[in-house]
Amino acid sequence: MDKTIMSLERHFLDQQRRYPEARGDFTKLLTEVAFAAKIVSREVNRAGLAGILGRAGQTNVQGEDVQKLDILAHNIMVRSLNHLGLLCALSSEESEGMVRIPDEYPVGNYALNMDPLDGSSNIDVNVSIGTIFSILRKVSYAPRGDVTDCVQPGYKQVAAGYVLYGSSTMLVYTSGQGVFGFTLEPSIGEFLLSHSHIRIPRSGNYYSINEAYSHRWKEEVRDYLACAKRSRESGGRGMGLRYIGSLVADFHRNMLKGGIFLYPADKQNSHGKLRYLYEAAPLAFIAEQAGGKATNGDQDIMKIVPTELHQRTPLIIGSADEVDFAMRFFRQNQTHAECA
Ligand code: AHG
Ligand code: MN
Ligand code: MN
Repeated sequence: MDKTIMSLERHFLDQQRRYPEARGDFTKLLTEVAFAAKIVSREVNRAGLAGILGRAGQTNVQGEDVQKLDILAHNIMVRSLNHLGLLCALSSEESEGMVRIPDEYPVGNYALNMDPLDGSSNIDVNVSIGTIFSILRKVSYAPRGDVTDCVQPGYKQVAAGYVLYGSSTMLVYTSGQGVFGFTLEPSIGEFLLSHSHIRIPRSGNYYSINEAYSHRWKEEVRDYLACAKRSRESGGRGMGLRYIGSLVADFHRNMLKGGIFLYPADKQNSHGKLRYLYEAAPLAFIAEQAGGKATNGDQDIMKIVPTELHQRTPLIIGSADEVDFAMRFFRQNQTHAECA
């Protein structure tokens, strides 16, 4: 069998060749994001040694301060990307305002939003976590960019991706030409193409939601869940539950196996928990490119026009048929939808 071995860099260059007018900045930016992800991956892999080499808030054997892993990931991403002259704006879940690009560095025509480490409750317990990123074109007239470059609707994204630090490290991305997945080969430090043109199955057997919050849910969420669980013979979806508590990991499993992830609004959080720019919009772009769907229950995630950096949104995302089924319950003014 003759199977091509394709590195991430080679794949980006091949993609770039389709656009003779491209200056290569976009390719460079994606390459640098992947480079930063390799460093984060190394740190995540040795996180279990923190007790031996030093803990957060302590100094390690080299006498350096040990940072919490999400702050460390944020710093690695910023330090890898802020000096390249490719970005005019940078925002992160870990920073209240925009991340400043120091005046001595050149700026470019792209903005990047990121969740440097997703799955905070799983960071210290050796369970899969991830990084999410979203790339947009500069739209402001400010010479060095401003917040409007970051706060843009999902459909304006030119690329989005996530890195999953799981049993292997994987980078999955789209630039609007389908979804590609690369697996890190640690011995050579390269991402190799392992999943070409990923398509999310139209339907799936898993739902992912934090059911402990059911007492706070609105009626439609409870009604939907009852139907998701009910057997197919009785008009339900006959689904099983998988909930890791790391959005990237739950989403990735559903991408490959089919299923639906829900983090709805509830009586306590009228906008849910997840962030539009750092979590919902980038994963919605990927889902859409893979043939899936993403909604806030009322509107496509990709069409929402955000107004704030840290804006939250309810998120229902995954296989197209599963999201459509859920939408029968969630659409505004919809009362008492029933199982099929
Ligand atoms: P983050 O670690 O970036 O703050 O995100 C955590 C998110 C997401 O990864 C996960 O799906 C969700 O929080 C879990 O929240 P609950 O513990 O409320 O279920
Ligand atoms: Mn997150
Ligand atoms: Mn995070």
